[in-house]
Amino acid sequence: MSKRTRYGGDYNPEQWPREVWDEDIRLMGEAGVDLVTVGVFSWAELEPAEGAYSFGWLHELLDLLGGAGIGVDMSTPTASPPAWLSARYPEILPVDARGARYSPGSRQHFCVCNPVYLDHAGRIVERLVSEVGDHQAIEMWHVHNEYACHVPYCYCDHHAAAFRAWLERRYESVDALNEAWGTAFWSQKYGTFAEVLPPRMTPTFINPSQELDYRRFSNDCFLDEFRLEREILKGAGPEIPVTTNFMGFFKPLDYFEWASELDVVSTDNYVDPGDPEWPMLSAMHWDLVRSLNKDVPWMVMEQTSLRVNWREHNAAKSPGQMRAMSYQAVARGAAGVLFFQWRASRMGAEKFHSAMLSHSGTASPVWAEVARLGKELAGLGSFEGAAVQARVAMVLSWPNWWALEGGAKPANDLHMLDQLVWMGRPLYNNGTTIDFCRPGEPLGRYDAMIVPSLYLITEAEGANLVSFVSNGGTAVVSFWSGIVDEHDAVYLGPYGGPLRPLMGCDVLEVAPQRQGEVLEVEWEDGTRTTATFWADVATEGEGHVLARIASGPWAGRPVVFETRLGKGVAYYLGARLDNAGLSRVYDRAPALADAPAIGRSGGGPEGYAAEGYVAEGGGSTVGGIERVVRASSTHSFEFLINHSSHDAEVEIAPDGFDLLARSALARRLVLPPSGVAIVRRAESATGG
Ligand code: GAL
Ligand code: ZN
Repeated sequence: MSKRTRYGGDYNPEQWPREVWDEDIRLMGEAGVDLVTVGVFSWAELEPAEGAYSFGWLHELLDLLGGAGIGVDMSTPTASPPAWLSARYPEILPVDARGARYSPGSRQHFCVCNPVYLDHAGRIVERLVSEVGDHQAIEMWHVHNEYACHVPYCYCDHHAAAFRAWLERRYESVDALNEAWGTAFWSQKYGTFAEVLPPRMTPTFINPSQELDYRRFSNDCFLDEFRLEREILKGAGPEIPVTTNFMGFFKPLDYFEWASELDVVSTDNYVDPGDPEWPMLSAMHWDLVRSLNKDVPWMVMEQTSLRVNWREHNAAKSPGQMRAMSYQAVARGAAGVLFFQWRASRMGAEKFHSAMLSHSGTASPVWAEVARLGKELAGLGSFEGAAVQARVAMVLSWPNWWALEGGAKPANDLHMLDQLVWMGRPLYNNGTTIDFCRPGEPLGRYDAMIVPSLYLITEAEGANLVSFVSNGGTAVVSFWSGIVDEHDAVYLGPYGGPLRPLMGCDVLEVAPQRQGEVLEVEWEDGTRTTATFWADVATEGEGHVLARIASGPWAGRPVVFETRLGKGVAYYLGARLDNAGLSRVYDRAPALADAPAIGRSGGGPEGYAAEGYVAEGGGSTVGGIERVVRASSTHSFEFLINHSSHDAEVEIAPDGFDLLARSALARRLVLPPSGVAIVRRAESATGG
C-alpha cells in the first residue's frame, strides 16, 4: 500500500463476453485505475459443480490485469454460495427468528455456523490459493464480502448448539449463566445449558442479557469464519495484506475487534448524497474507519459514482460531489478510493446501480468525472506517513450500542447514531477532526473525549475514562451513561456506575420528554438555550452547576455540570441540549475550543483570518468549508473542500503549494462549489 492513492473498483468480468475485457483494460488505463477487486461473487464460476474447478478464466484475467500494471485485490467468493451447494445441502441455508428458512436466489444465503458451509468455504479458498496464490498481480486478499450484511442473525439448530457451547465457555456453570442473565425474572431460570435457545420469536420482550450475548456470539461466529479463511490465505504468503470490507457504522459487527485482525481496513460508504448533512455523516464514516485500527492503513473499498439502487428513491450525486466525497476520504486518511463497480451490469439486481463505466459508456458525464479523478490521484503522489491530526476522540463501544438499543428502555427511540451525530455536529461545524475510540483503549494521545450515551460500561472501562480525566483530559459525557454492567445489570445507587466521578451530580431518575416538548435551559449568566427528548432528574453533587432546567415540571433541576478531577475536567449533560447549548459546553473546554478550525487561528505564521473564510451560515454543514490536516515530519497537507453552493474565498497561511492546481499559492484561494484544494507545505506548520 505504499504507492499513490489507489484507484479502481469491483471488477466482475464473468458477467461479460471475453472481448469486453480488452476494452475494460484499455479504459482502466484511461481512468488511472491501478487496483481492482476481482472474484467477489465468482464461486459458481470457479467451482461449477461440487469438486469440479474452473480457474482458466481467472488465470487469464490476472495475466491481463498484471500485464497492464493493474493490481488485484483478490476476493474469496464465499459470500454467495453456488446453487448446487444449497440444492444438495439445504441445511446450509440460514433460518430466521420465526424458524423460516431463507432460500437461495440472491446472495449471503448461508449459515455461518453450518459445518457443511464452512467445509466448502474452506475448500474453495484453499483451491483459490493453490491456483493463483503466487500470481504477481495479487496485491491484497479481500476476504468474503460485507460480512453479516443481509443475514446478521441466524437462529437455526446449528446456531443453537454453537451458542450453548459458547455460553458454557463463557460462564462455565449454568448457575453463573442464570446469575449473568438475571433469570429469576419471569421464571426464566435454566437447569441445564441444553435448555437454552437463541433469542427466537417470543410472545414479548426476550431476556435482554440473553439477546446481548447472542449479539456477541453472532459477531464471534462471523469472525471465526473470517479467521478460517484468513489462515488459509496467509498460508500462501504472509506478506500479502488481508482485508475485508466493512460498512462504516454497521451495528451487528464489532468492527474494533475485527479491525485488529486486518492488515488493511476497508469500508463501503453509501451515505445518502441527498442528505443535507452528508458531508458530516461521510466525515464521521471515514473518521470511524480510520480509527478502528490505528496502526494499519485504510481505504475506501466501495462507493458509487452517481447513485445506488437499493433505497426507495436513490438521489444522485451532483456533478463534483463524488470527487469532493473522495477527497474527503483522502483528507481523512484513505490510502485508496474504489467503487462498486467498474462496469455497470446489464442484468441482475444491481443493473441500475451506477458504476465507473455506465451503460452509455464513455459518453456519460460520469465517465468524465471518474477519469478526471483517477488521473488526478495518479498525479498527486503519496500521502503515506502523513497522519490525520486529531486531538479529540469520540467514544464508541459496540457492546454498548447493542445493549443501548436492546429494547424495553425508558426511550426506545434513543439511538446510538443519533447521539453520535448530536454530539459530533458542533465539532464538525467548527472544523475539529475527531478519532473514535473504544472506552477501554489507551487514551493518552487525546486532549478531549466525547462520550455519547455510554449506557453499558464495564468497571475497567469506567476506570480508564476517569483516569483519562484525572491525568489532565477533558471529557464531555451525555445522559444515559454508566447505567449497566457488561451483563446489562443496573449499577445501583444514583445512576452512573463507574462514571459517577465524571458526572458531578446524583441522577435519581430519568425522564424522557413528551414528543415535541422543548425545555428551556438557563445558564449561570441568565441566558437561555433549549433541550429536547430527555431530562435527567438530578440533584447537585461535587460538580459546579452550569445550567438548570427552566421550564416544565422539572424546572429548577440542575442539568449541566462541570467537575474538576485531578488535572482534568469533566462535563456532564443531563439533557439533549440544542446546538447552541452544546457549543457553549465545548467552548468552555480548552481542548475543544482550541481545536484548529476554519476561521480560527490555525498556527500558521499569522494564523487564519476569519473574514471570508467561513461560508454563509457560520460554518453550517451545508454551507461550510471543510478543512482537514494531514502531517508527517516533513510535510503537511491541508485539505479544503467547499460544501457550499457558491464560490468561497478562503484565506490561507502563506508558503503553500496547491497540489491540484500545481501552483504556488497566494494568501487567498477561491473554491467553486464542490471545489477541492490540497495545500502542501514543507514541515508541519499548520498545526492541528
Ligand atoms: C455493497 C456490496 C456490493 C454491492 C453494493 C451496492 O453492499 O458489497 O456487492 O451490492 O453494496 O451498493
Ligand atoms: Zn445458523
